[in-house]
Amino acid sequence: MSTTDTTDTTPFIKVSVLGAAGGIGQPLSLLLKLNPHINELALYDVVNIPGVAADLNHIDTDVKITCHMKSKSADSNSNESLNESLKNAIENSNFIIIPAGLPRKPGMTRGDLFNINANICKELAEYIALYSPNSIVLIISNPVNSTVAVFKEIFVKFNIFNPKKLFGVTILDHVRSNTFISELIDGTLPNHYNVPVVGGHSGHSIVPLFSQSNCDISNLKILNDENILDSLIHRVQYGGDEIVKAKNGLGSATLSMAYAGNKFFNIILNGYLNIKEIKISSYIYLDDSIPGIIELKNNLKILLNKNNKNIKIPEFLATPMTFDLNGIKNVDYTWVNKMNHKEQEMFFIAADFINQNVEKGINFVHS
Ligand code: NAI
Repeated sequence: MSTTDTTDTTPFIKVSVLGAAGGIGQPLSLLLKLNPHINELALYDVVNIPGVAADLNHIDTDVKITCHMKSKSADSNSNESLNESLKNAIENSNFIIIPAGLPRKPGMTRGDLFNINANICKELAEYIALYSPNSIVLIISNPVNSTVAVFKEIFVKFNIFNPKKLFGVTILDHVRSNTFISELIDGTLPNHYNVPVVGGHSGHSIVPLFSQSNCDISNLKILNDENILDSLIHRVQYGGDEIVKAKNGLGSATLSMAYAGNKFFNIILNGYLNIKEIKISSYIYLDDSIPGIIELKNNLKILLNKNNKNIKIPEFLATPMTFDLNGIKNVDYTWVNKMNHKEQEMFFIAADFINQNVEKGINFVHS
């Protein structure tokens, strides 16, 4: 049964998931199928997507599933071979979420994934530039520190880059920080904690700011113990390795990533639909046109100078922000001056890492 409300001004929301048949793609698509604000969920992959789409289609929610699998002919290297499936999957999308690409195996770093995943990202970015240039793009594919730079460079090449609409999904680091600090305290209510995480999304580039959590955990006795704090920080920075090891070669974080990706998408969607303003970190290009970025860069410059650090301010950074219809509404820069000494030192290390990772992404596109 359907009712038609002619006064309804809610926009039609189409979300595309590229890499939807994968370990992250499937549970993420399930969570999105349950979202009452989504009208169409377009699922795209190079394999297995009809089965995933058919399965999700049996769920009695009002989200229309469309299924798009890359055809064999589109696989040829000929310039003539248009990938119609990808084009159809992304056309008229408000949001494109990208968990396409190889996950880590034991012993691999996210950097090891770069060559394969950068090539995948390149194709997807070119199609988005041509067929869905106004969409908001959320990149999950690793190494995020570099793949987001690949997207940006390709969007610039096609003259469609909008810095307010390109996001590296780093929220899993925040989700892990909340969970791990809760475990240290009493194991209850992990999602009552709200630990901001800045920097990047791999190892030492991840900078959890426990001193700036919503709950006043900076006064907690356990965190005054340097060893406990260090191992907490290390667990956040290398939390992905716990999963890779536990899965014994069968992939990296998928279920927690799907949860985190869905959480991030909902925060953006809440801003987009003007339902609720929530602040969360994402890895973005620090473009001066974004409100708060000039202040962020000035504060970082002062911090680096004060500490005699000859480090370039990264072009990309995970920083907390709010969202609206245009993507990023406002970037929060106040965390810079609130970092304690330990966090500042971690940030300097992170900035160095990020600069190298970004350069890798840029060189890939221009080589
Ligand atoms: P997976 O291998 O299970 O799934 C990847 C999917 O991408 C597969 O279904 C594959 O067919 C598809 N794919 C490959 N080439 C494609 C192309 N050209 N176009 C569209 N789809 C394509 O991998 P999983 O575990 O889902 O991870 C996906 C990515 O997410 C990996 O790069 C992983 O490192 C990353 N990841 C990111 C996290 C984050 O916090 N941002 C956390 C965990 C993983």
